[in-house]
Amino acid sequence: MNDKEIAVIGAGQMGNGIAIACLQSGFGVVLVSRSEDSMKQGEARLDETLNKMIARGRLTPEQKAAFLLKLKTSFRMEDIRDAAIVIEAVPEQLKLKQEVLHAMERLADKDAILATNTSSILISRLAFVFLDQGRLIGLHFFNPVPAMKLVEVVVGKSTSKGTIDRSMAFIAALGKTPVKVNDAPGFVSNRILMPLINEAVLTLQNGVADKDGIDTVAKLGFNHPMGPLELADLIGLDVCVHIMESIHEETMDEKFVPARMLKELVQAGKLGRKTGEGFYQYSAQK
Ligand SMILES: NC(=O)c1ccc[n+]([C@@H]2O[C@H](COP(=O)([O-])OP(=O)(O)OC[C@H]3O[C@@H](n4cnc5c(N)ncnc54)[C@H](O)[C@@H]3O)[C@@H](O)[C@H]2O)c1
Repeated sequence: MNDKEIAVIGAGQMGNGIAIACLQSGFGVVLVSRSEDSMKQGEARLDETLNKMIARGRLTPEQKAAFLLKLKTSFRMEDIRDAAIVIEAVPEQLKLKQEVLHAMERLADKDAILATNTSSILISRLAFVFLDQGRLIGLHFFNPVPAMKLVEVVVGKSTSKGTIDRSMAFIAALGKTPVKVNDAPGFVSNRILMPLINEAVLTLQNGVADKDGIDTVAKLGFNHPMGPLELADLIGLDVCVHIMESIHEETMDEKFVPARMLKELVQAGKLGRKTGEGFYQYSAQK
């Protein structure tokens, strides 16, 4: 399988990580951005990630050179045509994702698996724009993708058995563990994680403890490797708000209404690590 090409649409945090994970397992990758400018930004981000991996001893310069030979970047959706699997990783907005998925079905090879990396939107809702809804599946990767072993394989109401079986084999070929879950708001991971993050923000907002105190309780008291506020910064505070709003829209469950402080940080452009500030500052290391 690893001689196949994988197309990834959206060269942000997740698209970048998915591309690197595919390259690490020997796949060729075409990474598609929405414009020439964002393609250049995506290339720079990928280069920076690979250099960090070299600095940390997780990659050799020779491996990086070999990856770059197997990577194509593009800002034309038509370039997905040779891919065996096409994965979209554009922002968590229903209309945008449906537009991208519609183009994917039109332009991809007729046998290609079409996948979304959505964190919370129902696969069946996204599949609405498809002629053949059996082709769409959720492949929910975790951040940072090269390091994280889990992928939730989200099965929509119409996802075909062939799509499920080939997707499970693809995730195994990446050296990751696929867990098959049914289509429900937030799947398993964000249904559990988002209320935890939101409650941590409310705890901060209500002055129960400072951010270090809250994160230390989770790390030393629950044995979590990161505190919920650090994790929110890693995910992206805008991404967290989008996920919570999308689960809330689907469930009307109040526990998914984003905390005021979280929305204020997003409105101020403090999105977490990717902008250098969220709950913490990242000019130094965190
Ligand atoms: N951040 C996380 O921890 C995480 C984890 C799992 C899943 N996800 C999901 O992955 C998806 C992407 O999240 P992210 O954190 O990478 O966001 P991001 O903002 O870092 O990246 C999104 C990228 O998509 C690009 N884009 C927008 N419209 C596009 C289009 N029409 N065609 C091609 N590219 C386009 C943007 O320019 C940007 O580079 C979301 O659905 C999110 O919910 C995120």
